Amino acid sequence: MSTQLFARSITVVARPGARAGSSALRARFSTRPALQNAAPAQAKGGKSPRVLQDFSMEGRVCLITGGARGLGNEFCRAFIDSGCTTMAILDLKQSEAEDAARDLVATACLNSDSKPEDFKIIGLECDVSSERSVIKAFNETMDTFGRLDSVVASAGIVENYSAFDYPFDRIKRLYDINVHGAFFTAREAARNMIPQGGGAIVLVSSMSANIVNIPQPQTPYNASKAAVKHMAASLGVEWAKKGVRVNVLSPGYMLTKLTKTILEHDRELKKTWESLTPMGRMGEPHDLAGAVVFLASDASRFMTGAEVRVDGGYCII
Ligand SMILES: NC(=O)c1ccc[n+]([C@@H]2O[C@H](COP(=O)([O-])OP(=O)(O)OC[C@H]3O[C@@H](n4cnc5c(N)ncnc54)[C@H](O)[C@@H]3O)[C@@H](O)[C@H]2O)c1
Repeated sequence: MSTQLFARSITVVARPGARAGSSALRARFSTRPALQNAAPAQAKGGKSPRVLQDFSMEGRVCLITGGARGLGNEFCRAFIDSGCTTMAILDLKQSEAEDAARDLVATACLNSDSKPEDFKIIGLECDVSSERSVIKAFNETMDTFGRLDSVVASAGIVENYSAFDYPFDRIKRLYDINVHGAFFTAREAARNMIPQGGGAIVLVSSMSANIVNIPQPQTPYNASKAAVKHMAASLGVEWAKKGVRVNVLSPGYMLTKLTKTILEHDRELKKTWESLTPMGRMGEPHDLAGAVVFLASDASRFMTGAEVRVDGGYCII
């Protein structure tokens, strides 16, 4: 099963010039800085640029939930930019996870001397709210790659209902994805990392773990993200002596499908959010690239149970 998956993913990623070089692909990524070379980038004259090696993701096997889109997808890109070539992308639909794998490889090759066969990136179907689904996806990843070094739990949803109007089945679904999904992901990550000597887990929380967003009501979401923040601290302590670090990345308002869906219903809301943010703008997904690489790499080797907020200063006023 795993071998088939691996073979399938390689077929997917190695399809000659699948979309690499296409104008559509260039257009899609034209608003973000060009990917750096996935292999250690060569500066002019053949010398490697001077970068702190601790931030390198080279040789690390990564897994990202919710990696087909939005912030999760940006985290995948950041890891590839930092040298990672081996990765599992988990998302609700197999086809979207595989598409994301193909796009990542194509973009990396477009912007560097890398070839599709330099990458081993698989897309796997996984519903993080189902423990069984998470275990299955981690087993497939381990069967394929044999180890796991950095895991990011990015899958999550938001909904805006006032407390009195929020249907209970939707509240339960939100907690199942945001809270239990993060827990299942962290637990399977640690279960596999501990026997190999350790690893780094990044749970994606939100500035909403620390503040109450206004004007939109979202109490269960805020509570779910506060739970994720304290989950990272608690698991960080539980696994500290076993070499597994658990930290939390808390973004402010970022422009992704998650927020665009909310903004579609209220055009003025973006201005309100920006006016509440000291830096005066919403974040672009790429604004999180440095922070996620920091937390997922050896650069943060003496950190566990910590929160890194990337919110344009929202939480400080
Ligand atoms: N966008 C923001 O402003 C913002 C701010 C703070 C925190 N966050 C958090 O960042 C994370 C990512 O948000 P985003 O903006 O990229 O959202 P998004 O909606 O753009 O992407 C979320 C991804 O998660 C996947 N997903 C959803 N439910 C899933 C499930 N049950 N199992 C597996 N995958 C699932 C989706 O298919 C999608 O690919 C979330 O945890 C969110 O709470 C986002």
